Amino acid sequence: MGDPVQWRNTDTSGHFRPQASQLATAGLLVSYLQVSPQEQGFSFFHSPQSAYTRRGDPIPHLQSVTQAETPPPELIHKLRNTTDPVLCCALSYCILFFLNFCCFTSFLFKTLTLRYPSTYTYTHTTFTMAPTVLHLRSETKPLEHRSALTPTTTAALIKAGYVVNVERSPERIFDDSEFEAVGATLVPEGSWEEVPKEHIIVGLKELEEKEFPLKHVHVQFAHCYKHQAGWENVLARFPRGGGTLLDLEFLVDERGRRVAAFGFHAGFAGAALALEVWAHQLTHPPSSPFPGVASYPNEDALITNVKKALATGTAAAGRSPRVIVIGALGRCGSGAVDALRKAGVPEENILKWDMAETAKGGPFKEITDSDIFVNCIYLTSKIPNFVNLDSLQVPDRKLSVVCDVSADTTSPFTPVPIYTVATTFDKPTVPVEGLSSGPALSVISIDHLPSLLPREASEAFSRKFPPPSLTPHG
Ligand SMILES: NC(=O)c1ccc[n+]([C@@H]2O[C@H](COP(=O)([O-])OP(=O)(O)OC[C@H]3O[C@@H](n4cnc5c(N)ncnc54)[C@H](O)[C@@H]3O)[C@@H](O)[C@H]2O)c1
Repeated sequence: MGDPVQWRNTDTSGHFRPQASQLATAGLLVSYLQVSPQEQGFSFFHSPQSAYTRRGDPIPHLQSVTQAETPPPELIHKLRNTTDPVLCCALSYCILFFLNFCCFTSFLFKTLTLRYPSTYTYTHTTFTMAPTVLHLRSETKPLEHRSALTPTTTAALIKAGYVVNVERSPERIFDDSEFEAVGATLVPEGSWEEVPKEHIIVGLKELEEKEFPLKHVHVQFAHCYKHQAGWENVLARFPRGGGTLLDLEFLVDERGRRVAAFGFHAGFAGAALALEVWAHQLTHPPSSPFPGVASYPNEDALITNVKKALATGTAAAGRSPRVIVIGALGRCGSGAVDALRKAGVPEENILKWDMAETAKGGPFKEITDSDIFVNCIYLTSKIPNFVNLDSLQVPDRKLSVVCDVSADTTSPFTPVPIYTVATTFDKPTVPVEGLSSGPALSVISIDHLPSLLPREASEAFSRKFPPPSLTPHG
């Protein structure tokens, strides 16, 4: 309330004469006094200081009020008689002051809310909402170099008001220092288990198989909802711990399309590998299988390698390869076409097929007439085969490499039923057995192709994450 001496004035006789200018901050208090001084017992005069003038002289009547707690009747009478005219003026002043004050605080509130969105100001008191804390965990899946958040998106999230804690990771394609440089706090590997339950744990691939209950909100690909091995155990940990799973696979836009996906770089990496395998076949004996591959530091390094391979293959074949991409309008398909163009395959040698071209039903001669087939479709039901063992048994077959980016390897609906195993980075190809004519045929069926380009794949994925609905102000 402030020291009442600041707004009281007395004459030498001790008469109480508040001046309008001095009533500014206490107008309502004065009204209160006017209405029922006796009932209220002048309790707001309790401070001994309040019984002195600004010069320090004691005020006799008020002094006694201070001491006696209850004012004598003559003082009440005197107060009523001396303050009435002044109070009218004071009240008007106070109303004006109050209106001004409201305008000012409203202006202040708006300004601060716009400038500091997570800060809300109300009159004299400022309340700051605790920012949302995202905790990027270190991936535990072997050879997983991708990251759900990148330094670029981390910087954007921090700017948007998040706090981002990043677990140190020896495997991640981005150095820990890149996250630190944009304002993230580095925390120990595996520390997510112990952080407060309000922190949101962000990851890419599934958690390690363990038993303890999960208490946090986890954002990741859980690989549970297609009944993958162990799915019941993984999901059961959430209700036991009170946690929540936000599976990125089911994050869709208003048209139902997945928001967070790695398709483009899967197709890109698949097509690039297919060109390398084609060149390898032409420059090595059939007994020499295509060697293992490892992640590239960036797209340029991969394309440089592929261009070199393509040059040697083209020289050996005396022509550029002809490549057919099916599902070319989708994410994987457009990535595949992009890689073929960047590697230098002539545009007229790239057949871009989608629903319209396959509507007539396979198997398709255009596939066996091509050197490379890149399958990028999103399979939802049984469809006629694009290719099968019979369609391959033709003397004029050129086809020598299939990259099944869709990787529906074990699905009974696969339109590419010519192989049965998923390949890996260590052993990227598997031969198609039982062919009696034409060249040897190799299939690439790696189901984590984007890991070949972890940097670009992470950047492209992470740009979509988190969606506006998960942002604090979105
Ligand atoms: N191997 C990997 O590492 C990897 C990585 C990511 C995605 N994928 C898989 O790749 C597949 C495609 O994913 P996406 O994100 O590109 O899907 P998408 O929906 O973006 O594209 C699929 C495309 O296939 C086309 N298509 C569907 N049926 C077709 C048919 N019968 N004939 C011709 N075209 C057809 C669609 O019209 C669409 O253009 C999915 O099965 C996905 O799981 C594999």
